[in-house]
Amino acid sequence: MADPLLCVTGLYKNYLENVPVLKDVSFNIESGEYVAIMGHSGSGKSTLMNILGCLDTATAGHYYLEGRDTAALSSDELALLRNRLIGFVFQGFNLLPRSSILDNIALPLLYSGKSKVERREKATVMLTRVGLAQFGDRRPNQLSGGQQQRVAIARALVTDPKLILADEPTGNLDTQTGDEIMKIFQDLNEDQNITIILVTHEDDIAAHAKRLIRVVDGQIASDQAS
Ligand SMILES: Nc1ncnc2c1ncn2[C@@H]1O[C@H](COP(=O)(O)OP(=O)(O)OP(=O)(O)O)[C@@H](O)[C@H]1O
Ligand SMILES: [Mg+2]
Repeated sequence: MADPLLCVTGLYKNYLENVPVLKDVSFNIESGEYVAIMGHSGSGKSTLMNILGCLDTATAGHYYLEGRDTAALSSDELALLRNRLIGFVFQGFNLLPRSSILDNIALPLLYSGKSKVERREKATVMLTRVGLAQFGDRRPNQLSGGQQQRVAIARALVTDPKLILADEPTGNLDTQTGDEIMKIFQDLNEDQNITIILVTHEDDIAAHAKRLIRVVDGQIASDQAS
């Protein structure tokens, strides 16, 4: 049988010695799943997402991505894997304020070997896909919050990732705008089979996912279809 896309076994994370923030966390996520992660502030959700995104490493336990043990990879190899497989969407959009919208979206392609023209073409396709084709020359602060988050999604998609990691992507948005963002995620999951892992505090946002993992004090308290 094929490896799951993600396999986490017995994962621990300590920032400070002997103070585990994640404790014996284990789960698999298959390609094409749509998973919501919920839990109180400080329960370890972002810590877990950072490890799943290869932005941080575990203190103990294993994290296999496409069957590869991430602990065995160098930081260069991790960066390559991250760039090839994963797109990130954050609560605060994290766009570069001085760069145009199009340049923001093209940024993850910088190390792809594509020419500048090809990078801008791909960025334009992604910007069009999130419905903002006419805004490519603007700066981020000239867009609304919801528009900025769509730009961030376009940036996450520009490398054709298999996996989207979204940490409270609707946390700074009103309900209607948040629903529009969720519609984009749903289409990505259903039409393109992109795996989505989404952290949220809101029940109605989590309801879009097909599986719900609850984290309590650094441990998985429940993990079930939703
Ligand atoms: N770099 C760090 N150094 C030390 N402690 C940290 C660090 N990052 C997070 N922590 C601690 O780890 C715990 C989990 O933090 P984390 O950011 O994962 O929580 P969270 O579930 O994402 O919370 P929120 O819902 O508020 O975003 C918290 O107690 C936090 O203070
Ligand atoms: Mg967090």
